[in-house]
Amino acid sequence: MDDYKPLEIAKGIYWVGVVDWNLRDFHGYETPKGGSYNSYLVIDEKIALIDTVKAPFAGEMIKRISQIIDPSKIDYIISNHVEMDHSSSISRVLELAPNAKVFASSKGQTGLSEYYKEEGFDNWDLNVVKTGDELSLGERTLMFIEATMLHWPDSMQTYVKEDKLLFSNDAFGQHIATSKRFDDEVDDVMEDAGIYYANILLPFGGQVLKYIEKLKGLEVHPEMIAPAHGIIWRDNVSKVMTQYLKWAHGETVPKVLVIYDTMWGSTEKMAMEIVEGARSAGVEVRLRHLRKNDWSMTMKELMDAPVVAIGSPTMNNGMFFTNAGFLTYLTGLHPKGKKYFLFGSYGWGGGAVKGMEKMMESAKFELAMESMQIKFRPYEEDKKACREIGYKLAEIAKDNANS
Ligand code: FEO
Repeated sequence: MDDYKPLEIAKGIYWVGVVDWNLRDFHGYETPKGGSYNSYLVIDEKIALIDTVKAPFAGEMIKRISQIIDPSKIDYIISNHVEMDHSSSISRVLELAPNAKVFASSKGQTGLSEYYKEEGFDNWDLNVVKTGDELSLGERTLMFIEATMLHWPDSMQTYVKEDKLLFSNDAFGQHIATSKRFDDEVDDVMEDAGIYYANILLPFGGQVLKYIEKLKGLEVHPEMIAPAHGIIWRDNVSKVMTQYLKWAHGETVPKVLVIYDTMWGSTEKMAMEIVEGARSAGVEVRLRHLRKNDWSMTMKELMDAPVVAIGSPTMNNGMFFTNAGFLTYLTGLHPKGKKYFLFGSYGWGGGAVKGMEKMMESAKFELAMESMQIKFRPYEEDKKACREIGYKLAEIAKDNANS
């Protein structure tokens, strides 16, 4: 039995990463399917390790590397991204391969120097590279590509020219834990890639478009994309790149997304009536209760919806705490081109709708129509008004869908 077996993904190139089966929360983003941190070992006259893994998993990565070579033989460590899920085992590798050179972008150098002072950064042989720089390993050549704001300023990718293999770091990733390693071996991978995009890359559509143009300019036409999270793309490379273009362009369909929370059911009743009205106009409708659904999936649902209705009950003269949290998350991710409708209920004093309106205004989000709030509970005339609003929102969604 081979414990901690690496996987050869191309001749002489191995996956030596780890699967985080119990990951359910990636810095606040729900990951119900778990995750992985992918690092890769390229064996040539010189040996290169592409990225490392989250520090608690360093031992497992090193065991996998040890199945192929003595880790002391690693010549180069390519640090594509400073974030700790990829860089926090570099110092462990350097303990075993103290003469290894580390390669990072200029911003990567800055980030690594700030994060790893206590891990001896000052003694690292750190080499700064930029887009188009090449590093020969012998038979193979690594080319570096700065992927600025995909999703951090330091983000970089590494391309093996001879194999047409792109180590894309965070881009094209998905948070799934699986013993499979390739896109043709798992189901729903594009859906998982979409959830990942919605929560990690959504604010950076413009940069994604520039990056894909940059690849073309560099004559980078990958036949395999090996991200730092999830499975490796070999069967759907052009499909996922096309999908990234669609997401980056903000492609939408006739769809109304209704997001809400509720205390005693009044806001929920309003939400249900809005859904009914929108459904009757023949568009796709989705309903997401904030405490019963993953926000990461809600963001995926929001990506292709031109119209979003958000409802909140009033609590302590303001919006409900989940609405406040979700709106903070939403305005941070700042999806472009949406129209919003706000609604809610209150008992003795209002405040939820007003609070949401303030957040929308400061985020420069566009409201589709005047907000609606009801006192205590919706009666038949209120429900009818909600259905009519749902219908109007559906018409707006039809008018604004761009695909
Ligand atoms: Fe997978 Fe930005 O770290």
